[in-house]
Amino acid sequence: MTITFIGHGYVGLVTAAVFADLGNTVNVVGHTPEKIENLKKGIIPIFEPGLSELVKKNIDAGRLMFTLSFDKVIPEADVVFIAVGTPSTTTGDADLSTVLDVAEKIGKNLKGYTVVATKSTVPAGTNKKVQRILAESKPKGAEVSYASVPEFLREGSAISDTVNPDRIVIGASDSRAQKLLIKLHEPIKAPVVLTNFETAELIKYAANSFLALKISYANAIAKLSELLGADALKVLEGIGMDKRIGSLFLSPGPGYGGSCFPKDVKALITIAKDNDYAFSLLEEVENINSQMRRDVVKKARKALGELRGKKIGILGLAFKPNTDDMRDAPAIDIITLLVNDGAQICAFDPQAMGNAKTVLPKIEYARDMYSVADGADLLIVLTDWNDFKEIDLGEIKKRMKTLSIIDTRNIYEPSEIVKAGFSYIGVGR
Ligand code: UDX
Repeated sequence: MTITFIGHGYVGLVTAAVFADLGNTVNVVGHTPEKIENLKKGIIPIFEPGLSELVKKNIDAGRLMFTLSFDKVIPEADVVFIAVGTPSTTTGDADLSTVLDVAEKIGKNLKGYTVVATKSTVPAGTNKKVQRILAESKPKGAEVSYASVPEFLREGSAISDTVNPDRIVIGASDSRAQKLLIKLHEPIKAPVVLTNFETAELIKYAANSFLALKISYANAIAKLSELLGADALKVLEGIGMDKRIGSLFLSPGPGYGGSCFPKDVKALITIAKDNDYAFSLLEEVENINSQMRRDVVKKARKALGELRGKKIGILGLAFKPNTDDMRDAPAIDIITLLVNDGAQICAFDPQAMGNAKTVLPKIEYARDMYSVADGADLLIVLTDWNDFKEIDLGEIKKRMKTLSIIDTRNIYEPSEIVKAGFSYIGVGR
């Protein structure tokens, strides 16, 4: 099939590369000339394990192309996927301006029969608007069906999540679109949920909010464990063994971040409010999440007393490992609070320092993970990168002024850290 993707972020680029790899002809439309020129050469704008290789392989095979113009690649497409960003506005709603803008550009260029499907996470009701724009802007004679095919990939494991998803959700306007989308997804072996737009859209928000809720629940149990002297990791392991609960997404930490959970929880609260339902359960999920970020600063104050003038080394900035993404990373709030208290920060992240410099321009960045320890009074682990798990404690010990570690991801075995001469503060233990 011939497919066009609008957008080359995590969702657009990964899904486009995977569909190309499955043998389809895939065009990707962007709006930044420099990024498109780079993509044509196989230089990708994001860090995602394996993606660069997959993109290059499919460019070389002539199955994956990049362009700035809609008019070249919409008319020939069997399926057009909208995969542009929907960031939160200041009021908490999802910003739909790009989705609606590209819908009109797609509509104007339609030819023959085309299925237009949204991959972007959009609030219930948006797809009806997109469908209307397509119908109003399409040339006479062009036929269009509309669908919502939400994406569930995680950054860091995006390719395998796309190739082996838990399910494929297809919310289509008619059976012709449904059949075409089922055919397109045929090589991907996963159960398919066939439904209408509204349901497909809500599945995505409800899934992400439930996962965020699970993390906040684990964080609340971690707080309670600290107060009771219980070991949260054992408690969570114990409850996760119940198949009805499951062990995934129960790791306590500095709170969830990234481009999806914070935004989607906020959007679902707003969607509910707009429909006169107070989703207070999710408001508490957000409260617990921001408490966890403040809690790291409280622990730093407890370890050091006054923070003014103290040197704190930060290991990890990205919202999770194996990504360079800084969107809504706990590190942003935590470092800002530490700096406000007068601490001097030196940070290292294997991939995210480039992006971090734009949101945290005033702190010092180290050239490697050991340099953050130079003269430090405290070390705080904020992202669970494998490199940090294997750190040489002897080397750290030589460089630090005071031997103290806050491990917000529980990556170390407390007894080993204490044996090496450090004071250790984890989460929930
Ligand atoms: C998420 C969803 O998992 C994915 O299905 C959706 O399509 C996009 O949003 P992503 O944001 O890439 O994916 O990352 P994910 O691995 O889900 O982690 C999100 C955040 O939760 C990270 O900050 C992570 O550190 C945190 N987290 C995750 C925890 O704090 N504890 C956990 O147990 C799991």
